Amino acid sequence: MPEHVPPAHDREHDPAPRQHGPAARLHGPAARQDGPAHPEPVIRVVDLVRDYPRPRTSLVRPAPVVHALRGVSLEVKHGERFGIVGESGCGKSTLLRIVAALDRATSGHVFVEGTDITNLPERRLRPLRENLQLVFQDPMSSLDPRMRVRDIIAEPLVVQGHPASGQRVRELLEAVGLSADAGDRYPHQFSGGQRQRISIARALAPRPRILIADEPVSALDVSVRAQVLNLISDLVDDLDLTLVFVSHDLSVVKHVCDRVAVMNAGQIVETGYTADVYAAPQHPYTQRLVSAIPTLQRALSGATTSDLLANGDPA
Ligand SMILES: Nc1ncnc2c1ncn2[C@@H]1O[C@H](COP(=O)(O)OP(=O)(O)OP(=O)(O)O)[C@@H](O)[C@H]1O
Ligand SMILES: [Mg+2]
Repeated sequence: MPEHVPPAHDREHDPAPRQHGPAARLHGPAARQDGPAHPEPVIRVVDLVRDYPRPRTSLVRPAPVVHALRGVSLEVKHGERFGIVGESGCGKSTLLRIVAALDRATSGHVFVEGTDITNLPERRLRPLRENLQLVFQDPMSSLDPRMRVRDIIAEPLVVQGHPASGQRVRELLEAVGLSADAGDRYPHQFSGGQRQRISIARALAPRPRILIADEPVSALDVSVRAQVLNLISDLVDDLDLTLVFVSHDLSVVKHVCDRVAVMNAGQIVETGYTADVYAAPQHPYTQRLVSAIPTLQRALSGATTSDLLANGDPA
């Protein structure tokens, strides 16, 4: 049975002082200072459009176009855990890639910490590349199998021209629940869950302020999904990160995120506090999703949004 993941709204209202884990010591001199108000949204997306041209198949007809994003707007505030949920192909990863400046928009704008990054040249994206880190679905394909884990974790620091001490790598390994000697081994010597922990350690290495996780537990064995979700949740709290979390598993988003945007066919159809959206969904598409929501336990067993909608079985 999967480990219990406390719902985001329970944590929010929990008056108990937070117990900081090993991640707390990852705060270093370069970490964010306390105090300032954060009037500016951390991420602001304005009317984002992304069309992908398809290869031309006819001499007379124009080349077909996939409208991956059709005018997406959203705001993510400082310290928020913002979920994006929707069926396969609705544009979730496209949106994340453009926010992380790994892809360019056809039109629209993305502001990160107040800076319009939409058309910034690569050399001016360096601060963004440090501040905003990503964790992907499949840790095996995102970790270089020829590199030792300590070098994988240190790589983002080295690339950005920072010193990467053994001490720092050990701290990161400890923060994600791996032993210090894990640094000597290669990715294939770990389980899927451990590899995702390595990906998370690597993402945290440059002390990002924003963590973007694209289906971070979907490829993992059922037995470890809850543990990795808990780890992400704890790290976001301990390190005061802003989290953007994509999943097609509604109940996973419900348990991790404070606010959620529901996407369908390249558009956001509804945004709100997660508890409100689930208690009283406004848009018909969200109502369908919510009526098909599985228990966390069932979502962790691998049922996808599409499976649930197809079966229409909320049990
Ligand atoms: N590089 C690309 N070239 C052409 N089409 C693309 C490209 N990337 C995405 N698409 C198309 O854009 C649409 C949105 O894809 P995207 O990967 O963003 O969906 P998603 O919501 O992340 O789906 P999933 O849940 O399966 O990961 C899909 O129709 C996809 O085929
Ligand atoms: Mg995707």
